[in-house]
Amino acid sequence: MLKNKKWLFIVIAISIFVFILLSADEEEPKPEYVGYKKCKTCHKEIYKSWEETTHAKNFQGVLDSTGLKDESCFPCHTVGFGEPGGFVDTTETPDLIGVQCESCHGPGSLYKKFSIMKDHEKCVENGLYEQTAEVCTRCHTEEQSPDFNYEEAVKDIKGIHVIPEKDE
Ligand code: HEC
Ligand code: HEC
Ligand code: HEC
Ligand code: HEC
Repeated sequence: MLKNKKWLFIVIAISIFVFILLSADEEEPKPEYVGYKKCKTCHKEIYKSWEETTHAKNFQGVLDSTGLKDESCFPCHTVGFGEPGGFVDTTETPDLIGVQCESCHGPGSLYKKFSIMKDHEKCVENGLYEQTAEVCTRCHTEEQSPDFNYEEAVKDIKGIHVIPEKDE
């Protein structure tokens, strides 16, 4: 009798443990990179302006200079290299080359939903970066970009993109 109860207790304890593990997993999916095409649909004007920047076009230069053999270049010249949903190689992830929306705004799989996008707090909870100089200096290091000046660069439309006027 006593032995049976012990087993029952163990089974219940294990079930509760597994349940907690599974529900914790469901509550916190990790944001993944999705690529600029997913942002383009809702941010057309910004997309068009970004497309003209060296950020969007720079990958060709890297291809030309290394023939794509050097992985050490990928963290700064592709999107999310080595992270969930990020760049793997040009065959598997051809749409994740260059410096894209998510390089500066963070992996977008969770915040790109319309209901979340409208709410800044919710965006940040779901992976959107706050815009600070550190977002840029991850790549614009002393070594790679000695003349980089955040205050000036962030105002340079050729460097970022237009900020559309809101029709209110
Ligand atoms: C379903 C449409 C939709 C998609 C897809 C979408 N956005 Fe948005 N986004 C919006 C709306 C609406 C706003 C709020 C109004 C505005 O600022 O344009 C917004 C706001 C933003 C903001 C300002 C947020 C803030 O509070 O600071 C950023 C940055 C942004 N989007 C980036 C992105 C990126 C990067 C992607 C792709 C990963 C993306 N969006 C995909 C609709 C969308
Ligand atoms: C730490 C980030 C980082 C790494 C790693 C990196 N780059 Fe860059 N690269 C940059 C930045 C930032 C610029 C823009 C510099 C500027 O204009 O101030 C740049 C510019 C370039 C350019 C364009 C220069 C021009 O003509 O305007 C090429 C080509 C390039 N990098 C190739 C490479 C190659 C090849 C590798 C790997 C061996 C590499 N990069 C590694 C950040 C990086
Ligand atoms: C080089 C970094 C960089 C890239 C690449 C970039 N952005 Fe931005 N984005 C910024 C900065 C900086 C701001 C200004 C933030 C601020 O003023 O708070 C901004 C602002 C925005 C905003 C808010 C505009 C508003 O009304 O205030 C949206 C939406 C946005 N970006 C979408 C995008 C999309 C979509 C792409 C890709 C097509 C993209 N961004 C690419 C850096 C970047
Ligand atoms: C993921 C890496 C990365 C991030 C993040 C990044 N950049 Fe860049 N940026 C580059 C690379 C690489 C180039 C060089 C493109 C080329 O010349 O081929 C570049 C070029 C530029 C240029 C143009 C330089 C020129 O003379 O053509 C400006 C301006 C610039 N970045 C500003 C910014 C600002 C401001 C931020 C942050 C809001 C930022 N970047 C974030 C990698 C990055």
